[in-house]
Amino acid sequence: MEFFADTANLKDLQELSSMGVIDGCTTNPLIMVKEGNKDHVTQMKAILSLIKGPVSLEVTTNDLQEMLKQGRELAAFGKNVVVKVPMNINGLKAVKIFKEEGIKTNVTACMSTKQAILAAKAGATYVSLFWARMEDLGVSAEQIVKETVDILRMHNMPTKVIIGSFRQISHINQALRTGAHVLTIPPQFLYEMSYHPRTESTIQEFLDKWEAFKKGEQ
Ligand code: E4P
Repeated sequence: MEFFADTANLKDLQELSSMGVIDGCTTNPLIMVKEGNKDHVTQMKAILSLIKGPVSLEVTTNDLQEMLKQGRELAAFGKNVVVKVPMNINGLKAVKIFKEEGIKTNVTACMSTKQAILAAKAGATYVSLFWARMEDLGVSAEQIVKETVDILRMHNMPTKVIIGSFRQISHINQALRTGAHVLTIPPQFLYEMSYHPRTESTIQEFLDKWEAFKKGEQ
């Protein structure tokens, strides 16, 4: 099981890498826009200088030829680049061609098992199922992810399932139990996962006692 950071923020990527808790990173156009850097190529290259594991960089078109052009340009930035393509017919065509060219892909915005399996058939390296966006539709994200993971395992298909779109920290435990290969998590949740009030108070108790002992108060 791997954790990716779902961000393009360099400070967070540096911090999370130094904590040893992330194996890669995912971005999308919304995430890139949030950083406010109009020079997205520089931003992407800076991310790649920090993260040695898989880094998903997304194409910004639904046109097949443009997708191929952008994807090849992105892939040339580094061996660890994974080209993120939309889940649609042109996206699937692009996955097939990228696979023949040795370019890794992540088929994004999947909302159903059928879409994820189709992407796996086309040769996707990763398929991304969007937890909160599926739940918004009134379906069980947990059930869809479990079903996808089971089918891929049953048929020995090598595509890895990434769960993205986390809006609540409580979804992370649920997602971990699905057997998905990767969870891509916003930085604030990764930091929050380290915290427990009882841990804080216990550590403070140890430190207070130690200080008192050193001062000869005990
Ligand atoms: C995953 O790869 C996506 O970047 C991300 O998790 C999208 O989720 P959201 O837009 O619903 O937050």
